[in-house]
Amino acid sequence: MSTDIVWHKYEVNKQTRAARLGQQPRVLWLTGLSGSGKSTLANLLEKKLFEQGKHTYLLDGDNVRHGLCGDLGFSDKDRIENIRRISEVAKLFVDAGTMVLTAFISPFQTDRDFCRKLLGDGEFIEVFVDTPLEVCEQRDPKGLYKKARNGEIKHFTGIDSTYEAPSAPEVHLTYREESAEDTAERLYHLLVEKGLV
Ligand code: PPS
Repeated sequence: MSTDIVWHKYEVNKQTRAARLGQQPRVLWLTGLSGSGKSTLANLLEKKLFEQGKHTYLLDGDNVRHGLCGDLGFSDKDRIENIRRISEVAKLFVDAGTMVLTAFISPFQTDRDFCRKLLGDGEFIEVFVDTPLEVCEQRDPKGLYKKARNGEIKHFTGIDSTYEAPSAPEVHLTYREESAEDTAERLYHLLVEKGLV
């Protein structure tokens, strides 16, 4: 960062925007393996919150990689940069008073902690979508695990690239054989119980 830049303070700020919207802006950060259900759950949860009148925005791995992060691949270096950019964007949305949902594998604890530190106290909610690798691989909705096992894709999370499970997530969503709608409902109730939505 250049040393010749100065931070401007605005009259309209996070507090005033959040007060007008009548909500506590924060980031619900879903992390888990590919195929764990992050995107589906985030989508269902956003719909529920939106229908309740919350101002929400969903940032999703596959979609963000079509634009903002379209230049990044899946090396460790690129994943770190991916999560750094998402964290900065999430921070801007929080500043705008929004309730942000993110659905990224975000495999490294240091990067998730980076986002936590970037935000204010209580604004980063780590949600571990803890679906076992065997289940994700059996689902294989995009056929990527099969390709990874055949060696057609390199650095695939859980196969030949690391996933560091969160050590102390705010919400730990364990796997159950149930519909996505039921899982999303279970997640919603866990968040309500903890006073997070
Ligand atoms: S990361 O690790 O947080 O930067 O990844 P993310 O931005 O969430 O992107 C994950 C989606 O990219 C697809 N994909 C891969 N995932 C993992 N490893 C490799 N090598 C890879 N190549 C492509 C995959 O569809 C992921 O989507 P989800 O929704 O997680 O299944």
